[in-house]
Amino acid sequence: MARRILILFAHPAIRRSRFNRVLIETARMVEGVTVHDLYETYPDFAVDPDREQALLLEHDVIVAQHPLFWYSAPALLKEWLDLVLEHGWAYGREGHRLDGKLWMQAVTAGGSERAYSPDGLNHWSIDELLRPFEATANLCRMVWQPPFVLHGAHLADAQEIDRAARAYQARLTTLRDGTPVRAVTP
Ligand SMILES: Cc1cc2nc3c(=O)[nH]c(=O)nc-3n(C[C@H](O)[C@H](O)[C@H](O)COP(=O)(O)O)c2cc1C
Repeated sequence: MARRILILFAHPAIRRSRFNRVLIETARMVEGVTVHDLYETYPDFAVDPDREQALLLEHDVIVAQHPLFWYSAPALLKEWLDLVLEHGWAYGREGHRLDGKLWMQAVTAGGSERAYSPDGLNHWSIDELLRPFEATANLCRMVWQPPFVLHGAHLADAQEIDRAARAYQARLTTLRDGTPVRAVTP
C-alpha cells in the first residue's frame, strides 16, 4: 500500500526563495503528500504539540525540507523537534509512537559539493552534518533515509532547479511506493 508522506517545510522567507519554492510546489503535486508549512502555521513559534503529533500519526513518512542554515536547519524546525518529540510519546519506555516511520531530510545548501568534501571549505559532508537529526530519528525508532541534498543553490540556473525538482519528485514517489532503505548506522 502507498505510504502517506508528511513534508515539514521550514523556510522563513519563502518569497525570497528560488530553490525551495520550486521544490515545495513540485511536492504539492505528488499524490499522497501533505505539505505542512511550519513558518506559515507558526509565525510566532508557538508550535502546538498535540496538533503536530496527530499529523505525524496520520503519515508513514516524515520529510523535513529546509535550506541549510549554519550547517543545520532554520530555528523553527529545531523548536518543532523540541516541543513535538516528547518523552513518553516519541521515545522513552512509555511510548514509541513513531516506531517504523521513515524520516528523510531534503536540504538545499548555498555551498558547492566540493566545499562539503574533506579538503573543502566546510570539511564535512552534509550527510555528516545531519547526524543530530539521524540520531534523533534513531532514538525515536524511525528509519533514517539517505538525505536528498542539493548543493550550490546560489549558482543554480532555471534548468538546474527544474532538474532538481524532477529528482525530488522521483524521490518522493519512491518513498511513497518503493522499498525503503534500511540504513545501518556505523
Ligand atoms: C541565515 C543563513 C544561514 C545559512 N547557512 C548556510 C550554511 O551553513 N551552509 C550553506 O551551504 N549555505 C547556507 N546558507 C545559504 C542557504 O542554504 C541558501 O540560501 C538556500 O539553501 C537557498 O535556497 P532557497 O533559494 O530556497 O532560499 C545560509 C543562508 C542563510 C540566510
